[in-house]
Amino acid sequence: MNLKLLRIAAVWAAPVAVGAIAALTGSHYLPESIAGQAQRQAALVPPVHFAPLDVSLPAGSTLFPPGEGAEIANANCVMCHSTGMVLRQPPLTTPEWKTEIMKMRNGFGAPIPLDQVDQLAHYLGVINGKKNEAGPSGVDNQAS
Ligand code: HEC
Repeated sequence: MNLKLLRIAAVWAAPVAVGAIAALTGSHYLPESIAGQAQRQAALVPPVHFAPLDVSLPAGSTLFPPGEGAEIANANCVMCHSTGMVLRQPPLTTPEWKTEIMKMRNGFGAPIPLDQVDQLAHYLGVINGKKNEAGPSGVDNQAS
């Protein structure tokens, strides 16, 4: 009888001992609770304070300069990019501006009606143009 008890004790002792050790040390490897993480981080990171900042940005022109054809440009050329995209280009001849407008129309879908293209090219030639005699600029002529 004693021998049987001893055998039972020996068979159970090992797993019980392993389980007890695992229970004691295992909690150390459990992932940290969210509350625990928040607490630890709050102790590490100083509180963040936001202060209002007064930033003055350079004024951008949202409309094209007045002139004959400006309304065409305002209606067709500012829905995708600013006027600066057009005004800060190197000066082009009027035919080159026409090519550029056709690129915007055919390539990117600018909704400008065909019968307004010449007037707009003339306008752009006036506000940011160069004389035809100056020779062609280095623009691509994909849309011509
Ligand atoms: C449907 C959108 C759209 C409209 C409308 C539009 N553009 Fe553009 N434009 C673009 C895109 C996209 C680019 C950049 C293209 C590139 O990187 O080649 C661009 C670039 C330009 C450039 C820089 C040079 C170049 O070819 O990249 C000029 C000049 C220009 N557009 C003029 C115009 C004019 C003038 C109009 C009005 C007729 C116009 N855009 C209307 C989309 C548009």
